[in-house]
Amino acid sequence: AILASSLTSISVAASSSWNIEDDYTSIWSRQQAEKVALTEETTAPIIDSDFEDVAPDVWVWDTWPLQNRDGSLANVKGYRIAFALVAPRTYTWHDRHTEARIGMFYSRNGKDWTYAGIPYDYDKALGHMQWAGSAMLDEKGKVHFFYTATTDMNANGGKEFNKDEWVQRAEQRLAKTTFDISADKNGVHLTNEGTHQILLEADGHHYETIEQFQEHGNIITGFRDPFFFKDPNTGEEYIIWEGQAGANRNHIKPENIGDKEYRETHNVPEHAKFYNGNIGIAKVLDNDVTKLEILPPLLESVGVNHQLERPHVVVKDDTYYLLTISHEFTFAPGLTGPDGLYGFVGEGGLRTDYKPVNGTGLVVANPAEKPFQAYSWWAAPDGQVISFINEPLDENGQVKFGGTFAPTLKVSFDGDKTKIVKEMQAGEIKPFGPYGRSLR
Ligand code: FRU
Repeated sequence: AILASSLTSISVAASSSWNIEDDYTSIWSRQQAEKVALTEETTAPIIDSDFEDVAPDVWVWDTWPLQNRDGSLANVKGYRIAFALVAPRTYTWHDRHTEARIGMFYSRNGKDWTYAGIPYDYDKALGHMQWAGSAMLDEKGKVHFFYTATTDMNANGGKEFNKDEWVQRAEQRLAKTTFDISADKNGVHLTNEGTHQILLEADGHHYETIEQFQEHGNIITGFRDPFFFKDPNTGEEYIIWEGQAGANRNHIKPENIGDKEYRETHNVPEHAKFYNGNIGIAKVLDNDVTKLEILPPLLESVGVNHQLERPHVVVKDDTYYLLTISHEFTFAPGLTGPDGLYGFVGEGGLRTDYKPVNGTGLVVANPAEKPFQAYSWWAAPDGQVISFINEPLDENGQVKFGGTFAPTLKVSFDGDKTKIVKEMQAGEIKPFGPYGRSLR
């Protein structure tokens, strides 16, 4: 963002990136969010409501594969491994969040998955329940198991009434443990479970704490979904997560609304100030990924959307795609958008001037006829996108509960455009390479 003379200023302007430590946060403005719209390139095919359950005894939702440090898909003696949130089907579909744990799946062909149960001792795990995370296999064969330690949503009265709305108290912190991993003809085994430790808590400055949330909260707070990412262009490592604006940034600035012309005519509903999503980032300081330096958020949606969930990154050469899932119901008053995978593209580095992809911001949207058929899309470095079947409608238009792997999609990323190019099998994961390898 330095403006030099003539020629150089053009290239600098084209790649406006900052140092990762810089206090520069991209903004998803109300003006940009007004452009959210379904298009042919970004609308997912309809999922057949006659689907099979990958693990009939448990609800299965947010899913992530075991990746090597460079982002490529881990291969342990010919097995691919995935982790997913699970809860016994004895809980209702809606109560599953309150008893969530992380289950393990393995597969030899990336299509037929075996559910191997919960790999950790949940009396030792942190939080009343464990929410989404990511998993990295290091060069010494250790699995780094990142997750969200979430307190009991029902404790202390559970929900409380605040600013005309029921809010959920669940406090979330970023946590991890480690395992050794082995595989034989009986499957994949995680052993030698390490201690569980908290990696990071909301600082109150850039990121909202539970106490701040209780002052002015809405829906539920967010400090969750740690995603490990090694930047292929710098070799630096980061944890990225879903946060919400802390004291320093929890107010609607002119930029959160739009440009000057737009602001002159656009009226921001009063209640929009309670929608304060952001995407957090911390720098990893040690090889064991236990020491983190918290940094200002990469992107914020203050006044626009309350939740930027499960953020993750796809890199193509010098172009960075910051991806996140969001819901229709978390858009601020006066705005709307589908449950979908949203993307922001920028050049030159991870802290960059992100703009919504495709002009709309959408990468994958549920079709209008089945607006809640899938959720929690996660894009691998090569553009394979996994998700889970959420609440599709059956032939009679009745809501059916999913809780299993959805068909994988293949998405192409090209400059500021993306496109769904293929539908694969339910839960299918083909081997993929590291972040930063050019996507074909
Ligand atoms: C997305 C999500 C995550 C969270 C989990 C809790 O589907 O809201 O952000 O970790 O579900 O069930």
